[in-house]
Amino acid sequence: MALADKFPSDFLWGSATSAAQIEGAAREDGRGPSIWDRFCAQPGRIKDASTPEVACDHYHRYAEDVGLMRWLGLGAYRFSLSWSRLQPQGRGAWNEAGFDFYDRLLDELLAAGIQPLATLYHWDLPAALEDSIGGWLSRDIAPLFADYAAEVARRFGDRLHSIATLNEPWCVATLGYETAQFAPGHTSRAEAAQVSHHLLLAHGQAIQAMRAVCRTPLGIVLNHTPSFAAAPNEADRIATRIDDGLNVRWYMDPVFRGTYPADVLAYLGADAPRVQPGDMATIQQPLDFLGLNFYTRSIISASPPAPPAPGLQGFTDMGWEVVPEVLTQHLVRLTREYAPPPIFITENGMANADELREGRVADTPRIAYLQSHLQALARAMQLGVDVRGYFYWSLLDNFEWNSGYAKRFGLFHVDYATQQRTAKDSAHWYRQFIAAQAGP
Ligand code: NOJ
Repeated sequence: MALADKFPSDFLWGSATSAAQIEGAAREDGRGPSIWDRFCAQPGRIKDASTPEVACDHYHRYAEDVGLMRWLGLGAYRFSLSWSRLQPQGRGAWNEAGFDFYDRLLDELLAAGIQPLATLYHWDLPAALEDSIGGWLSRDIAPLFADYAAEVARRFGDRLHSIATLNEPWCVATLGYETAQFAPGHTSRAEAAQVSHHLLLAHGQAIQAMRAVCRTPLGIVLNHTPSFAAAPNEADRIATRIDDGLNVRWYMDPVFRGTYPADVLAYLGADAPRVQPGDMATIQQPLDFLGLNFYTRSIISASPPAPPAPGLQGFTDMGWEVVPEVLTQHLVRLTREYAPPPIFITENGMANADELREGRVADTPRIAYLQSHLQALARAMQLGVDVRGYFYWSLLDNFEWNSGYAKRFGLFHVDYATQQRTAKDSAHWYRQFIAAQAGP
């Protein structure tokens, strides 16, 4: 594709994964259980009744997986650290075997010339913290998270490109505590609101604690699903504004302005979080980057169910509408409204009903998705948005949370019976694209 002139030569081309989704080795070398191990053990929670116990066995195959990244020509790799592997109780003793694993992974990445971007919390809370303090429902989690963050920064900071505190706090709070789709599976709007505040507080305290021990660039990863009104009427417009408030402004405003959006606070009423003096200043730490995960948009109606999305460019296997132009619009809007630090697209990708046939996966829709989103990204950059890197989600097919292994997002197909990895057509496409970017 003719985009070579549009991306700067130091733009980072990457791919992303997370610990719980690929590592496996759930009971090895002193790792403690996480809330996702527990959640998966409850009947009915995971669509295919699977667990992340083995996943892609990346814990043992990390060297092979770095080889795949090298073959792709990646300049960077985004992964997460498992808190319960590093500190099985979520407080107190560190698990040296856990640190050794990430030490080996970092050595392998750096030897391959691939820059590592670490995420500290990608949803796998040590179950021990759920038992001892009630997990994210307790304010006490913030200093514990900050201790964990500082230890990672102290040990690995000088080898990391950057560190993100949280991945998609909206999902942790809303899907975990309000809709029960994610661990720990609660159904309370008030809890979700309080949890979101504790997540943000933990983020702020972690940034402060890490600044004291390292010079590594620090940021946060947010997921935005831009909201569109189903119909051009006042009721839908108001509902859309609230939906935007809940998923975009609820996290952007405190992090970059030190306030919660007033309309969302009013909407939450008695369910609004309890905030202590000083909290908002702690949350509003200067950041070196913003990670944005973008997949789709939502259509909002004041009287649900909303009419189906038009889907002019199709839907993914998750049922998510493909809307690359929304990525351009949204990046322009964020830049205008927040003047954020440099942005990385820390996730973007699609699940596809891939089939491995005679050693090949012909995932044409994924190539089209990649191509159209890279074009949308180039357009945003032409319009003045400061984006420094792009990370396809995901390197490998993996454990897609409550969808289990049924949804495949990878550039590499994984045969879970044999752990064989096979480059899909999209991997070949991305490899050629990256090579062309590096060319003359
Ligand atoms: C967001 C999450 O960060 C990641 O864990 C998940 O697999 C992808 N989106 C796809 O749903």
